[in-house]
Amino acid sequence: MSRKILVTSALPYANGSIHLGHLVEYIQTDIWVRFQKMQGHTVHYVCADDTHGTPIMLRAEKEGITPKELIANVHKEHNADFKEFLVEFDNFWSTDSDENEELSKSIYLKLKANGKIATKTIEQFYDPVKNMFLPDRFIKGECPKCHAKDQYGDSCEVCGSTYSPTELINAYSAVSGAAPVRKETEHYFFKLSECEDFLKEWTRSEAIKGKPTLQGEAANKMGEWFENGLNDWDISRDAPYFGFEIPDAPGKYFYVWLDAPIGYMASFKKLCADKGLDFDEYWSKDSKTELYHFIGKDILYFHALFWPATLEYSGYRKPTQIFAHGFLTVNGEKMSKSRGTFITARSYLEHVKNPEYLRYYYAAKLNGTMEDIDLNLEDFVARVNSDLVGKYINIASRTAGFINKHFDGKLVEGKDYSLLQRLFDDNFTSFRPLSIWKCYEERDFSRAIRYVMDLADQANKVIAELKPWDIAKDSSRLDELHRVCSLAINFFYLLSIYLKPVLPRVVDDVAKLLNLPKLSWPELDAAAVSTLLLPEGHKINSYEHLITRIDNKQIEAMVEANKESLQAIQTPAPQAKQEAASEASYISIDDFTKVNLVIAKIVNAEHVEGAEKLLKLTLDIGEAAPRQVFAGIKSAYDPAILIGRLTVMVANLAPRKMKFGMSEGMVLAASDESGRPFILSPDSGAQPGMKVK
Ligand code: MSP
Ligand code: ZN
Repeated sequence: MSRKILVTSALPYANGSIHLGHLVEYIQTDIWVRFQKMQGHTVHYVCADDTHGTPIMLRAEKEGITPKELIANVHKEHNADFKEFLVEFDNFWSTDSDENEELSKSIYLKLKANGKIATKTIEQFYDPVKNMFLPDRFIKGECPKCHAKDQYGDSCEVCGSTYSPTELINAYSAVSGAAPVRKETEHYFFKLSECEDFLKEWTRSEAIKGKPTLQGEAANKMGEWFENGLNDWDISRDAPYFGFEIPDAPGKYFYVWLDAPIGYMASFKKLCADKGLDFDEYWSKDSKTELYHFIGKDILYFHALFWPATLEYSGYRKPTQIFAHGFLTVNGEKMSKSRGTFITARSYLEHVKNPEYLRYYYAAKLNGTMEDIDLNLEDFVARVNSDLVGKYINIASRTAGFINKHFDGKLVEGKDYSLLQRLFDDNFTSFRPLSIWKCYEERDFSRAIRYVMDLADQANKVIAELKPWDIAKDSSRLDELHRVCSLAINFFYLLSIYLKPVLPRVVDDVAKLLNLPKLSWPELDAAAVSTLLLPEGHKINSYEHLITRIDNKQIEAMVEANKESLQAIQTPAPQAKQEAASEASYISIDDFTKVNLVIAKIVNAEHVEGAEKLLKLTLDIGEAAPRQVFAGIKSAYDPAILIGRLTVMVANLAPRKMKFGMSEGMVLAASDESGRPFILSPDSGAQPGMKVK
């Protein structure tokens, strides 16, 4: 029976690049969608950029462009990344679209009409310099527990404790550096506390019998949240904010997470307009279609609580199922910039090139649960080379040539064909079409791949025993050669059908080799076994190279290219978590202004007894007493020529006790490859103590 299915992946934030972690999700969803499409179902796969919110607004400001320009640039980049990884959305749209504005406002008004919106005056931190309310992530200060400096307003990255921004010691705004003040403001709330009964039931429901709405682990997690009771959800933010203004509430905007999931609907609405589809057929309360959201486990709360409640009380259907996946680790650890394992989609494409290696590897690891999945780079190379190339492609590369050379590209016919057919009939169940089908359906791709590779092993074993390369040497055994190679090609055809959702491009090439329009996966039952066989005497094309092995060097180069210089890593943490992904190599202006650079006059310079590299400098920076600084510039400067010169020093570096005495600052110098230093000098007119900024 043909199904009508709408599928989404979570909407990536529009202020960072797509990385290999994101791709776990988009590749997983794409494989499932391609599988469903192969079955002949009507499937629409939509996504969009998630474009609103404070981090995007501030990043645009920092780049000197408007938020709309920023999100347009990122949209292009994301689109290109997805295309190259063969993630085939039917529409990739934006939450900053007319469709989304219209839907968000109308959904809000329906919630309001249903009595689900309340207003409340709350106190929030406010940046008096920047004139804006500050999200917790934009307030920093000293951790109240371990006293680590520069920690975020909600949690400490050093000791891991969580707290509220009011508890921070010496709190400051990450935007301007100013001390935040408390200020009252009216906010709009979605009365989630009134949705508890509905949600308790929904999270344990089955829209389709035997297919629970949430995975077991996810439903349990919900249970924990219910135990603590649900709070009303704060859905408004004050100007300045990049988002949609709330109807009849000037200066108030929808919080990004209100309009983000509505972006799923908006993207589909645009698709409907383009393709003449019926939006209501998919979204009305009594819709008979299926709706699936693929998400990461970190955003379960939004999708399993806020989102269904929003839909329920604005009169729409709810998701059929939510599929949450775990997080990607690389070599067993969190992706890390210093280890070079924070790898962007772009960087992978530059170094490794072939997206299907990664699609294959992720498929071999994904099992439809919320467990984290590990990309072990050594294992990645080994699997791609040994399984994909060594087992699967090998079947064709060892046998197709004989068919081309000796039989004019034609597979067996007549008696030989019935032999072949019998073999397939007898072994139908051992070719596992139904179990592999089921694995895909249930998103247990790793098991599907295991079955496929088992079959490839069997095929290779048979080929190795029959040794077509030996038979080919004996002209009296051509019939046998024909049978063996036809069998192998048929095996290859079968495995290609199974692998097509994972390897769409390779399998398109296989279709060309096999001289077929495109490989489909017919509804499989025992009676349909003949569809797994190529027709009698079918003519194939000449074998052309399908896929190469990965060279370890490509991986090494990729990791090397993603390693950030130590200096970049040591800069203070970026302003917001969202930004951490793309921006750890930048510092904010506030970070920079923490360094107190001043003009210094070198009033004295002398050699230090016993020091090989150091000169002792006495520096006037307009303070009551001059500073003493040891500088490693002896190799290039005679003290005498330094006296009287102006240069630049860091005046707020913590004093350091050295072997020869205290050093009370640092003089700046460039250096060449040999380490030879060049100190700086200001233009004439600069005075000791002037601030450099
Ligand atoms: N914008 C929100 C989603 C809104 S959906 C209405 C968001 N964006 S995100 O860019 O941070 O993440 C997009 C998806 O990628 C999420 O499902 C997230 O869980 C997933 N992943 C991001 N990093 C990941 C890993 N390191 N590993 C696996 N999935 C990851 O959240
Ligand atoms: Zn701490």
